[in-house]
Amino acid sequence: MSVPVLTIDGPSGVGKGSVARIIAQQQGWNLLDSGAIYRAFALAVDSRAVDIADEVVLVEIATNLDLEFKTQEGSELVSVYLDGKEVSSILRTEKTGEMASKIAAIGVVRSALLKRQQDFAVAPGLVADGRDMGTVVFKEAEFKVYLSASSDARANRRLKQLQAQGHEGIISQILAEVEARDARDSSRKHSPLKPAKDALIIDTTELSLMEVVAQVSELVKA
Ligand code: DC
Repeated sequence: MSVPVLTIDGPSGVGKGSVARIIAQQQGWNLLDSGAIYRAFALAVDSRAVDIADEVVLVEIATNLDLEFKTQEGSELVSVYLDGKEVSSILRTEKTGEMASKIAAIGVVRSALLKRQQDFAVAPGLVADGRDMGTVVFKEAEFKVYLSASSDARANRRLKQLQAQGHEGIISQILAEVEARDARDSSRKHSPLKPAKDALIIDTTELSLMEVVAQVSELVKA
């Protein structure tokens, strides 16, 4: 691999995205939120009302996915455009996450979206977060991290996130969603969620965001 790549994998709600954003900023590297690609793909499929058993159609949609990430002027916020339309809010809903998790289990979909993800590895470097960054997409990456946390801790973090955005949430329901999505993402045949053999595993249950960032930062600087 010609540019340095840091992969951050882990289950839903573990804080991969926040850690990835901060490290990318600190290093001045590019950022790949691979979950956003699967989420956008799920939205594209949903809006076309196609039969998801039709793999030929799925590959065609994945190959021609009109997806753009734009960083807002003067802010770190990234807006996502699908077919020219801003979809950032709908992309982050639990319903979209659930659809993404289901469709991401299909092997031909993953293959069709592989190169699009690998193309983010350009100078001066890349931080990539997802489920299979260290095991499949950037197998040769120089730095690999796997974040874990108890499902209770992850559900609580998600609830706080929702509340901060002015939404409501029921903890038992969020916990059930988090656990169902993890079970699906970990047990699928193609690129299941698991730590790469050479990944640094960090249990973040008792750690603050900045404590996790400090550990990852140390790895990249070492
Ligand atoms: O990270 P996220 O919650 O935005 O991801 C949404 C879903 O997309 C996740 O439940 C499974 C799928 N996904 C995947 O299969 N592989 C990735 N590298 C990233 C996400």
